[in-house]
Amino acid sequence: MCGIVGYIGKKQTSSILINGLSKLEYRGYDSAGIAVLDENGKMNVSKSKGRLANLEGKLKEMPLNGTIGIGHTRWATHGEPSDINSHPHTNSNNTISVVHNGIIENYLHLREWLTSKGYTFISETDTEVVPNLIDYFYKGDLLDAVMMATTKIEGSYALGVVCINEPDKIVAVRKDSPLIAGIGEGEFYIASDVPAILNYTRDVYYLNDKEFVVLSKNGIEIYDAEKQRVNKEVHHVTWNADAAEKGGYEHFMIKEIHEQPKAFRDTLSSRVVPGSPISLDKITLTKEQIENINRVYIVACGTAYHAGVVGKYVIENLARIPVEVDIASEFRYRNPIINDKTLMIVMSQSGETADTLAALREAKAQGARVIAITNVVGSSVSREADDVIYTWAGPEVAVASTKAYTTQLLTMYMIGLFFAENLNTVSSEEIEEIKVDMLKLPELAEEMLTHKEVMQKFAVNTYSHKDMFFLGRGLDYAVAMEGSLKVKEISYIHSEAYAGGELKHGTIALIEEGTIVIALATQSDLFEKMVSNIREVTTRGAKVLGFAAEGNTEIEKTVGSAMYIPKVKDILLPVLTVIPLQLLAYYIAVQRGCDVDKPRNLAKSVTVE
Ligand code: G6P
Repeated sequence: MCGIVGYIGKKQTSSILINGLSKLEYRGYDSAGIAVLDENGKMNVSKSKGRLANLEGKLKEMPLNGTIGIGHTRWATHGEPSDINSHPHTNSNNTISVVHNGIIENYLHLREWLTSKGYTFISETDTEVVPNLIDYFYKGDLLDAVMMATTKIEGSYALGVVCINEPDKIVAVRKDSPLIAGIGEGEFYIASDVPAILNYTRDVYYLNDKEFVVLSKNGIEIYDAEKQRVNKEVHHVTWNADAAEKGGYEHFMIKEIHEQPKAFRDTLSSRVVPGSPISLDKITLTKEQIENINRVYIVACGTAYHAGVVGKYVIENLARIPVEVDIASEFRYRNPIINDKTLMIVMSQSGETADTLAALREAKAQGARVIAITNVVGSSVSREADDVIYTWAGPEVAVASTKAYTTQLLTMYMIGLFFAENLNTVSSEEIEEIKVDMLKLPELAEEMLTHKEVMQKFAVNTYSHKDMFFLGRGLDYAVAMEGSLKVKEISYIHSEAYAGGELKHGTIALIEEGTIVIALATQSDLFEKMVSNIREVTTRGAKVLGFAAEGNTEIEKTVGSAMYIPKVKDILLPVLTVIPLQLLAYYIAVQRGCDVDKPRNLAKSVTVE
């Protein structure tokens, strides 16, 4: 994973790099480091294990002066988190410095080969071969040397490189790891992601694989692998820097939970209009092509995968097309059946998750048509898919995904309705009713947020438990999976989600006096069955918080506490049901004193396999 940033211009680079890294910490926070070229062309490196604050402390004691530099925040893959394994890495002679996001798969072979040529290594990382390889090929032109090095490297990389022999430039390149270049006035940037440079510029180039960038004080030059100049379109980013700040909230996660009503409005606006067909931006998929589809795969990781599980129910119900939902890392290696009647939907908040991207490429190579659903304009999946539908959630910073998930759900409904309109699988009255209810969701989400004390109270009573179980059937089971993930990833409580009917096949053995169970019973056709499941756990001593649709007060007869979800069409309820679950996970994590926005061992964007 990791995040990289680079700056060249008139200002002192250290503080710009640190600011950029602070916006990239979501990509990893095992260590951070910077390399700065000073006015005499000397290269100074400072790096430190742990959070960025450690590096900032070091820099306060020993500042690095200079107007050209590169920086890195690390999520450890090769070599434990330590000062020595931190980036930037330099060649044996300390003339070249490199920051890297990705994995060099053939690094052991390269390391052996370079050792035989006299190079020495001090870290356990894969990255350290890169500056040495560049040094090996260096004949007076840094760009040529980087180009040559990339012909020997296998794996994924976004690289930022500086060299003391050419102290007026930064060279950068990407392959399978994200990289953008930013254009300021007389100053230029590279970064793994837009928020890193949003304080300084909103004009960016989205780089493609094997595009090489040379940043100097005069501008940005982009070359392809044959060293031909590439002219690229400048994208103007519309997010402002404030959107990526906490804005008075204690954590990004709670801020992002509260941003859901707005995110819903933005995602629905102009796409869902009563009386008009669903409008999916510039989608090129035609009616004939939709009729030709005989199987849909929804492929994603983590929370996005959970949105896909809802998507399966939704698309199958509305469009009557068989849908398989797959974890991207499984899909890519299981030889799935794909042909020109296959539609793949990849879902990824960041648009850069390595497994999701690889699954997309695999499916495309075998003839599938691909729709990408992503939150990041210009991200890799958005560029490689046939069609893209953006979730307009705005920047999501907290590692635990909230508003990206709910807006992904909205896109699932929109796709389901779009197919239903084209295939005539649902009456137009029913479609209109769903649309009308969808447009109520922003307001109802606001209402859900006003009930946060209930969740706060439940969190206070449960935060010290070691285990937690989430139960649901149908769409509620899909939401239970997401609620359970939220709890485990930020509060480190062991949590499992189970389909109500499956409980008796093993999990019920774990229920004892005082076990915490969150039971979701919002789906009217499954309500009675869920009530039976709730009875099965309460008679064994479980403490149950039950969720039901408004009016279904029957649930109070079986649960300790109840929470009601406003009445809209059952199919839409997941969007609202998940909000109190997000709040519950948040308040439990706060009670336990956890680092909510940066949970241990995790990163927001998993750009390695
Ligand atoms: C990581 C994040 C999750 C996210 C998943 C998929 O695990 O911590 O929050 O759901 O990656 O990320 P994507 O960007 O592809 O949605």
